[in-house]
Amino acid sequence: MSSPGGKTARAVAHPNIALAKYWGKKAAPGNVPAVPSLSVTLAGMCTTTEVSFDDALASDAFTLNGAPAAAAPLARTTELLDRVRALAGIRTRARVHSANDFPTASGLASSASGFAALALAATRAAGLDLAPSQVARVARQSSASAARSLFGGFAELDTEGETRAVAPAAQLDLHVLVCVTSELEKAVASTSGMLETAKKSPYYASWLDAAPRIFADVKAALLARDFERLGEATEASAFAMHASAMAAGIVYFNAGTLAALEAVRELRKGGALAYATMDAGPHVKVLVLGGDRERVLERMQKVEGVLRVLETRPGNAASVEAS
Ligand code: PMV
Repeated sequence: MSSPGGKTARAVAHPNIALAKYWGKKAAPGNVPAVPSLSVTLAGMCTTTEVSFDDALASDAFTLNGAPAAAAPLARTTELLDRVRALAGIRTRARVHSANDFPTASGLASSASGFAALALAATRAAGLDLAPSQVARVARQSSASAARSLFGGFAELDTEGETRAVAPAAQLDLHVLVCVTSELEKAVASTSGMLETAKKSPYYASWLDAAPRIFADVKAALLARDFERLGEATEASAFAMHASAMAAGIVYFNAGTLAALEAVRELRKGGALAYATMDAGPHVKVLVLGGDRERVLERMQKVEGVLRVLETRPGNAASVEAS
C-alpha cells in the first residue's frame, strides 16, 4: 500500500559474499535460485542510491557513478522500478542516481549491493514501507544475491526465493580479505554463466545434488561458531560451483586467482586458519579470524597477481538514509 510522503528516498547497501553459493535458477519465472545459499554482508564497501519519482519525467533516468548509464543497466533498473510501481499503484517515472565506492561489475558483487539499495530506495520513494524480506523479494527478481544484502550479518536465500537473517554480524570475529586480481569487468555475467552451466556442464546435476548438503554444513558450522568447519564447507561450495561452471567452459579464474589460492593453502600448512572463496569473477576472498588477520593480510599482499587487498568485516543491513 502506498502512503503520502514518498517521492524521494536514499538508501545504502553493502555487497555480500556467499559462503554457500547460489549457482543456477529454477525454470519458473521470478528469478528463484535452484539451490539455497548463505552469505555474509560486508561492511567497508557500499552502494548509495537515490530514487526520485517525478511527474515531469517521460521515462526513467539512471546515472551510475556520475555518468548516464548504458541501455542494459537502464533497462534492468526500469524493470525493478516497474515492479515497485505495480506494488504502489503508481505510473510515475523516476530519476535514479547510484554510486559504488568499489569497482562496478568486476565480481565484487556490485549487482548485489546495487539492486538491494535500488529496491529499498525505490520502495520508500514510492511511499511503501515494507519489511526487509518483502524488499528482498523485489530485489531478488533483478539479482538473487541482492536479496541477501537487505540483511546484515549472515543471511540465507532459499529455493522458494525467500530471504531471512541467520546470525548477527558479531557471530564470529570474522575478517574477509578481498584480494583484487583484476581491474577489468568480469568476462561472463553471472546469469549467462549459470545458464551456460545448466545447458552444457556434465557436472551441473552433481552441483544441484551437492549444494543443499554443503549449504546445511555451512549453516550448522556458522551456528555452532565452528570456524574450521565453516571454512572447509565454504571452500567446498566455491570449488563445486566453479568446477561445474568450468566443465561448461566458464572460467572466472586468472593467474592471480590461482596464486592467491596457493598462498591460502600454504598459510594453512603453516597453522593459520584461512579459507578462500570466489564468485563470478577472478578475485579471491579470504576468510580469517582476528588472531590470524595480520599474518594472512601480509602474505596475501605479497602474492604476485594480487593488485590490492580490501579489508572488510561483517556489516549491517541495507538502510534508508535521511535526505
Ligand atoms: O545474483 P547474481 O546474479 O549476482 O549471482 C550471484 C552468483 C554468485 O555470486 C557466484 C554466488 C552467490 O550466491 O552470490
